[in-house]
Amino acid sequence: MATKIIPVVAVVGPGAIGTTVAAMLHEVGRTPLLCGRTPRDHLTLLEDGRPMTVPGPVRTSQKQITHAADLVFLAVKTTQIDAAAEWLSALVGPQTVVCVLQNGIEQIEMVRPHAPGGHIVPAVVWFPAQTQSDGSVRLRGEARLTLPDTAAARVVAQALQGTRCAADLAENFSSLAWRKLLQNAVAGLMALTHRRSGMFSRADIAGLALAYLRECLAVANAEGIELGVEVPQEILGKFQSAPADMGTSILTDRETGRPLEWDIRNGIIARRGRAHGVPTPISDILVPLLAAASDGPG
Ligand SMILES: NC(=O)c1ccc[n+]([C@@H]2O[C@H](COP(=O)([O-])OP(=O)(O)OC[C@H]3O[C@@H](n4cnc5c(N)ncnc54)[C@H](OP(=O)(O)O)[C@@H]3O)[C@@H](O)[C@H]2O)c1
Repeated sequence: MATKIIPVVAVVGPGAIGTTVAAMLHEVGRTPLLCGRTPRDHLTLLEDGRPMTVPGPVRTSQKQITHAADLVFLAVKTTQIDAAAEWLSALVGPQTVVCVLQNGIEQIEMVRPHAPGGHIVPAVVWFPAQTQSDGSVRLRGEARLTLPDTAAARVVAQALQGTRCAADLAENFSSLAWRKLLQNAVAGLMALTHRRSGMFSRADIAGLALAYLRECLAVANAEGIELGVEVPQEILGKFQSAPADMGTSILTDRETGRPLEWDIRNGIIARRGRAHGVPTPISDILVPLLAAASDGPG
């Protein structure tokens, strides 16, 4: 009888998103290898207060890796890719698929130099998850990813099949990724004000958010992305109808004094705008403020 070969799956960066995906895989008996920075003997995911334990240990040295993995979920922050590069050198071989669970639209360009032989798959991560002070992760919402409709993405979808993390393949992946980018870009305002979604009920903030979203949309359209004029209002409406205490990962990073993903969430709009000759006056003010808030000096 033929033996079923179980793919070796690794999660690099077992934080909010990495822990969620690891827990969904563990729940169906596909416990991944955990590669992180902080040593832990297990991970904990909380859903509606119910804990799920993912057995570790979280490995913290690349020397512990002896073979390439079949599939790597990369879930470090974009500001941490360089520091995590040695994990990719150890885990990625010519057959390895690297699914990048990060915000933005530049996953392939950013990860390719560190995984030249692998097949890189960008993902749109739709669910909010938050690390608590004790290291456990609180999942708020259903775990769901969108992937491009490619052969490598099908490897990811197959690994997640039967788990509670949905992985949809989308022909219009670029449009969906840009839509999420617009949502992330405007959420950057929360990092500047230190306020949660409730602030979007203010008329002045709603006006600024809408003007910024329209600027982002003009850049997306210049990139050839088909997003309609209704999108800015839809995104603003989502923030306005969210619980007033709903945060965003860039606000969490600001509150904990960590580097912000300002370049991939906000800087990109100004960069791509410049390339297409689209004026970005709001970005030109927001981006230096976010960059200085993140990186200083001072
Ligand atoms: N959280 C959300 O709701 C959400 C939603 C959509 C998209 N995203 C995106 O998903 C990505 C991941 O975000 P996140 O919120 O999951 O971040 P996170 O909670 O900060 O997780 C990052 C993880 O990477 C680990 N790490 C840092 N440097 C490392 C290294 N050199 N080697 C291995 N592991 C390392 C961190 O370890 P430590 O524990 O030591 O810090 C942490 O466990 C980001 O691009 C974010 O924008 C997040």
